[in-house]
Amino acid sequence: MKAKITLAKEFKIGEIDRRIYGSFIEHLGRAVYGGIYEPSHPTADSDGFRGDVIEFVKELNVPIVRYPGGNFVSGYNWEDGVGPVENRPKRLDLAWGTTEPNTFGTNEFMKWCKKANTQAMMAVNLGTRNADSARNLVEYMNHKGGSAWSDLRKSHGYSEPWGVKLWCLGNEMDGAWQMGAKTAAEYGHIANEASKLMKWTDGSIETVLCGSSSRNSPTFGEWEATSLDIAYDNIDFVSLHQYYENREGDTASFLAKTLEMEEFIYSVICVCDYIKAKRRSKRTINLSFDEWNVWYHSDNVPYERWSYAPARLEDNYYFEDALLVGAMMITLLRHCDRIKIACLAQLVNVIAPIMTENGGGTYKQTIFYPFEHISNFGRGVALKPIIDCPKYDCKQFTDVPYLESIASFDEENDELTLFCVNKSEDEDAELSINLMDFEGYKPFEFISMDGYDKKDANSFVLSPVKPHNNSVPVSDNCLVSVPLKKFSWNVIRFKK
Ligand code: AHR
Repeated sequence: MKAKITLAKEFKIGEIDRRIYGSFIEHLGRAVYGGIYEPSHPTADSDGFRGDVIEFVKELNVPIVRYPGGNFVSGYNWEDGVGPVENRPKRLDLAWGTTEPNTFGTNEFMKWCKKANTQAMMAVNLGTRNADSARNLVEYMNHKGGSAWSDLRKSHGYSEPWGVKLWCLGNEMDGAWQMGAKTAAEYGHIANEASKLMKWTDGSIETVLCGSSSRNSPTFGEWEATSLDIAYDNIDFVSLHQYYENREGDTASFLAKTLEMEEFIYSVICVCDYIKAKRRSKRTINLSFDEWNVWYHSDNVPYERWSYAPARLEDNYYFEDALLVGAMMITLLRHCDRIKIACLAQLVNVIAPIMTENGGGTYKQTIFYPFEHISNFGRGVALKPIIDCPKYDCKQFTDVPYLESIASFDEENDELTLFCVNKSEDEDAELSINLMDFEGYKPFEFISMDGYDKKDANSFVLSPVKPHNNSVPVSDNCLVSVPLKKFSWNVIRFKK
């Protein structure tokens, strides 16, 4: 197929907030225990953090990590996870049916963040708890000292406040599976009060209101409108969560899911702006897409109830999943004027780009790579490419463009990068890129992932699915010709 992409500096969508490249660690399965924390592991440091995992996290260049849940947070007493480890209680985690030993808690997570070059995005429990426990946690973590909770932190060995800036007001409070699930109005009130008290404790923080647990939630839309209307003046972001799956083996529809994601994002922006208009407010509420990924491979894998850190949600990702993850990141960037935060759910072992063996090795899943590329090269402003390419129809969608693409322009370093997925299973694309007003910019690197079967995956034994470098595309002034392989992920980098 023949395809054309036109790029110009004027096609600016917005500044890319680096927090759009966030991820997520929940007390779930082996994300914490056996994932980021395993004191007996050969690579563990004196804090018990796995060095091999930290190296991979640094490669992903994740600016924020949401913690400690997820569904887990809705039953979590944060006080259980601070202070001398020998005094910490073991608790039943009703969210995931396991026993939580609490040997890893808030301060351990903060230390881990420092070592992994990332920042915490903390979530508070608004399921079984309330505004009071939430504001106490802010005081414990962010107040300099001279109050009961901040002095307790000091007595635990942390004299300096952690200064966490970003806080989630609960998790998926619309879902029946959530401990302490609520109606939109009930949630709006508790979130409003919690956020108010948390901000009175530390005026420098920002908070995220829970949107619907997915676009498919029966109360989607109404949930956002009702809770936002109540909490509008005290919150900064609304969350979106969405996972996709390919249970029916319909790859064409699976890769077209970004059309649905696009609709989802657009709808949430509309609801935010509707409430803004209704309230005649000057404040704009932005979006935090704080759970997104492919999730389905590990459905129905049995585990022992109330056991400690069993393997849960350990999806082993196919090559086609990497293409959708790349396309989902492109979709997020297409809305970077309103999406300021996003979290790939999750980071290690649990529906994750990084996998570990207890006491053993690690491997990078297929989805690791598109994330790594965009997170490292997607800097500056996002530019909307004008894409001219053939489209396809499938079971679930019509008029799906074969190419999905976004560009980022890092003016400071004179770098332009084009990210592009070719969704066609059969046809290579002869792509011609018109660089319009990018005079003097030349391609210097062309990375791709292609040539794999759609079900190819990596494992501890073999990791065949990975990116490779191609010869640098031919350019003639502002016209660049790039051969895009069928069913491929592509990164084309230009420099002046
Ligand atoms: O990421 C796994 C789970 O998915 C989270 O705990 C929950 O918020 C969502 O339903």
